[in-house]
Amino acid sequence: MCGIVGAVAERNVVEILLEGLKRLEYRGYDSAGVALLQNDGTLTRIRRTGKVQELADAVAEGAALGSTGIAHTRWATHGGVTEANAHPHFSTERVAVVHNGIIENYVNLKAQLKEKGYTFTSDTDTETIAHTVHEELKAGKPLLDAVQSAVKTFHGAYGTVIMDKEDPSRVVVARSGSPLVIGLGLGENFIASDQMALLPVTRRFIFLEEGDVAEITRRDVKIFDKDGNAVEREIIESNIEHDAGDKAGYRHYMLKEIHEQPTVVRNALKDRIDENGLTVDVFGQGADEIFKKVQHVQIIACGTSYHAGMTARYWLEQYANISCNVEIASEFRYRKSVVHPNSLLITISQSGETADTLAALRLAKELGYMSSLTICNVQGSSLVRESDLAFMTRAGAEIGVASTKAFTTQLAAFLMLTLALGKENGMTETDSKAIISALHSLPAKLEETLAITGGIEDLAEEFADKNHSLFLGRGDQYPIAMEGALKLKEISYIHAEAYASGELKHGPLALIDDEMPVIVVAPNNELLEKLKSNVEEVRARGGIMYVFADKDAAFAGDETMRVIDVPHCEAAIAPIIYTLPLQLLSYYVALIKGTDVDQPRNLAKSVTVE
Ligand code: M6R
Repeated sequence: MCGIVGAVAERNVVEILLEGLKRLEYRGYDSAGVALLQNDGTLTRIRRTGKVQELADAVAEGAALGSTGIAHTRWATHGGVTEANAHPHFSTERVAVVHNGIIENYVNLKAQLKEKGYTFTSDTDTETIAHTVHEELKAGKPLLDAVQSAVKTFHGAYGTVIMDKEDPSRVVVARSGSPLVIGLGLGENFIASDQMALLPVTRRFIFLEEGDVAEITRRDVKIFDKDGNAVEREIIESNIEHDAGDKAGYRHYMLKEIHEQPTVVRNALKDRIDENGLTVDVFGQGADEIFKKVQHVQIIACGTSYHAGMTARYWLEQYANISCNVEIASEFRYRKSVVHPNSLLITISQSGETADTLAALRLAKELGYMSSLTICNVQGSSLVRESDLAFMTRAGAEIGVASTKAFTTQLAAFLMLTLALGKENGMTETDSKAIISALHSLPAKLEETLAITGGIEDLAEEFADKNHSLFLGRGDQYPIAMEGALKLKEISYIHAEAYASGELKHGPLALIDDEMPVIVVAPNNELLEKLKSNVEEVRARGGIMYVFADKDAAFAGDETMRVIDVPHCEAAIAPIIYTLPLQLLSYYVALIKGTDVDQPRNLAKSVTVE
């Protein structure tokens, strides 16, 4: 989604801003822009639709300079993809603004500002920020005061950075609903919507909190909370690796991230589990005491993270004997729900910034959940800061918009949580031992599974010219079928639906013909015979099937059914193992179709608006 970078320095900041934007490209965007202030008071703006490189070329051509600057990648919400709608937005060549989020009352604000004589040059909500701040500056306020007054009139979400041409020594930033992080340098300071943007210039960060307004100069950072009180916020040393942005020789980030899964899952397990089970405090200080009281689990997430939650429900109820509901965050936050006694609220998120998930967590606190745990990949993110307990998945930076390694580490985290909650709820010794042993075998099994790539490449050829597809699974493989369908949709733009295969005869069988490939995930578990009956139902109607099956599952392939052998694994980790071939299938289909694998159309990596 939109990205922000800003800098206040002695040196020319153009390269810092452009490099920052390039590092945010993975989040998804459709246009980009930069505004620069020079000490002589010159304010320059360059904007382009398309890629950041086009902006960089235009900046180089114009030899733009500036020691204070703001830059933005825009993912259109209000107004089409045009240069006029790209940020930064100006008010009368004095105020420049970049903004992530949505000003929901912009229509009213716009009407009021027009009455005051302001002319609008874009269709965006953001332009109202520029003019509102300008109006406050006109009253003689310094920029900080002007922004503090202006934000009181905004409803909605914003992470915004504002420059005043008449004071090139500072930028003022405000956060409500959209994340912002200050980067601390030596004699220079920075602002961004994501720490990834600033890694080449600093590793010291302050994550702003809801309602914060901050003034950033070269030598100083002053932060004020939502009530206007000066506050100190913790400085965090980032441990994200510098080279996280490299493709490491792979053609796409997504392929690199698929192949990283054995390593990142190994990291996720490291020091957390040994041959006897979990080591203490894996889920954070005080988790053991909270887990003793938990009687119900409510999981909230979006997209791929939701699929991790769906899988976890099977595990928590089957092995840990604890009741569990799972819900999409955007539904949960807008409906009245009943809170079970002693309920643990679990949010799952790669980014830790998904607007709906964050809103659901805040709502859950009001509703009286006993405690909250987040399973998250980004240290310092909003979900981590606002949850009682946090479990970091250690997947490393995930750049491909289509989530892969974040998902499998989430699943590993949930198996560990199953052990932790199961301990308090009468999990059998046999199940406990089986999960511990399965987790120990997991990294090696993932490596073995990645080795079947060749066969999947061939299969992708047969797929690429199809318009629709159906994914089938049963039990804990049903969410994996859903995740496989989501991956295919996201990056190959082929319509894909997932069904619990027992549901076939209740409707979807009507779709079956030889133009509708059916993908089946078939580990050798207690539901195998039921699944085989479902496969026969498809075969009898002329369906073409691709069955990812355990070697021992004894599927006999023929011209209507291709069988792809998946290494045998223990039942508890089968959902994680069967995820990999489906990720590879969607990747190779996308390659053949020539889509933008890492930045699929219309999608964003971190969905910070609802
Ligand atoms: O950062 P989150 O895990 O909270 O993001 C949730 C979804 O937006 C995300 O999983 C999305 O569905 C991905 N594009 C999936 O590949």
